[in-house]
Amino acid sequence: MSAHKIIIAIDGFSSCGKSTLAKQLAAKLGYNYIDSGAMYRAITLYFLRHSVHISDHEQVLKALDNIHLSFVFNEKREQSDIYLNDENVEPYIRDLIVAEKVSEVAAIKEVRTFAVGQQQKMGQKKGIVMDGRDIGTVVFPDAELKIFMTAEPDVRVMRRYDELAASNPGITIEEVRHNLELRDYIDSNREESPLRKADDAIMLDNSNLNKEEQLEKVLEWVKDKATNIVAGNIP
Ligand code: CDP
Repeated sequence: MSAHKIIIAIDGFSSCGKSTLAKQLAAKLGYNYIDSGAMYRAITLYFLRHSVHISDHEQVLKALDNIHLSFVFNEKREQSDIYLNDENVEPYIRDLIVAEKVSEVAAIKEVRTFAVGQQQKMGQKKGIVMDGRDIGTVVFPDAELKIFMTAEPDVRVMRRYDELAASNPGITIEEVRHNLELRDYIDSNREESPLRKADDAIMLDNSNLNKEEQLEKVLEWVKDKATNIVAGNIP
C-alpha cells in the first residue's frame, strides 16, 4: 500500500460497524484509529458523575474546563482506550446509562467545539482513521477518503445487543432498539453538525457483508485514492 498517508473519515448511524471497519483499516495500513464517539461518551460520563445540567450554559462551560481527554494505545484491545482526567474510562462509557444521554450532550455547541478542536489536531499528521457523525462534513472536510456507512435497522440492533448483553445482563432487545432509534433521530436532527452524508462520501451498506468482504472493498478504495494522489489527479 502507498506510503502516502491520507485521512479516512467514516460516518454513519449508530451501530452499523464503523468502529470495526476503522479498526481493521488502521491495523492494515499502520494508521491511528480515533473513535470520536468515545470522546462524547467520556464527556457524558463526566456530566453524569458531576450532575451537570445540560441546559445550564455556565455549568457546561465549567465542566468542559475541568475535562481533559486523551487516548492511550491498549495492546490487548489493539485500539486506544480513552482517558478522562487520567482515568481509563473505557469500561464505563459503553453502558446504556451513558448511551441514553450521549446524544443530548453531543448536541451542545460548546461540547462540539471542544471535541472537534482536539480531533482536528489529531489529524494534522494524517495517517488517521476517525469514525463518528460529522467527520467527513465538519472535522475533516478535506479528508481524502470519506465513507458513509449504513446497515439495515434490525441488523444494527442485533449487533449492538450482542455486544452489550455480555456486560449488561438483563438488557432487552427493545431497550437497545429504542436507544439506537432515539440517538439516530437526535443525531440527524440537531442544529449543530447533524449527521449527514458528505456529498463526496462513498456509501457503504454492510448489511450483507462480512468483515473480510467489507475490508477488501474499502482497501480497494484506499488504493484508488492513494494512487490518484500520487499521480496528482486530486487537487
Ligand atoms: O458506536 P455507536 O454507533 O453507538 O456511537 P458512538 O460512535 O460511540 O457515538 C455515540 C454518540 O456520540 C452518538 O450517538 C452521537 O450522539 C455522538 N457523536 C457525535 O455527535 N459526533 C461524533 N463525531 C461521534 C459521536
